[in-house]
Amino acid sequence: MPCVNDQVPDTITAGWNFNLNQACQQQGDMKETQHMKLVIAIIKPFKLDDVREALSEIGVQGITATEVKGFGRQKGHTELYRGAEYVVDFLPKVKLEIAIDDTMLDRVTETISKTALTGKIGDGKIFVLNIEQAIRIRTGESGTDAL
Ligand SMILES: Nc1ncnc2c1ncn2[C@@H]1O[C@H](COP(=O)(O)OP(=O)(O)OP(=O)(O)O)[C@@H](O)[C@H]1O
Ligand SMILES: [Mg+2]
Repeated sequence: MPCVNDQVPDTITAGWNFNLNQACQQQGDMKETQHMKLVIAIIKPFKLDDVREALSEIGVQGITATEVKGFGRQKGHTELYRGAEYVVDFLPKVKLEIAIDDTMLDRVTETISKTALTGKIGDGKIFVLNIEQAIRIRTGESGTDAL
């Protein structure tokens, strides 16, 4: 989207050029930092090693994995435990958070989809978010250089 300052004649903006320029500067900063995506994938725990390996092979530099509990559409799923039926609202899952250069997005989502697939219910979901900024603490690098 073009900066608003580009679309307004000088005579009109003369009085508030400073604020507009500040806003446009900030927008420029944002542009630099909008080439990163955060991929959040919820997968079956036993698929973690395969997914990690496949992602490393396509050049993913880092992954955060967390043990989580979740449910999808089959909430209220029942499970037998020592002869009795229990309602299991939340099942163990692994959540992956992967920050990437957005040129890798399709490769990453396809790799996760293919590797985490069993074809049975509960295979998981992938969510994609924009990242505004990333900073590598040791070196101070930022943006895609920090990934
Ligand atoms: N809408 C959602 N928001 C947040 N997390 C979700 C959502 N849907 C699913 N999840 C997470 O993903 C996990 C796996 O979801 P799941 O694959 O069972 O989805 P589903 O829609 O029920 O698909 P399926 O019919 O294949 O089971 C859930 O346990 C939960 O952690
Ligand atoms: Mg489900």
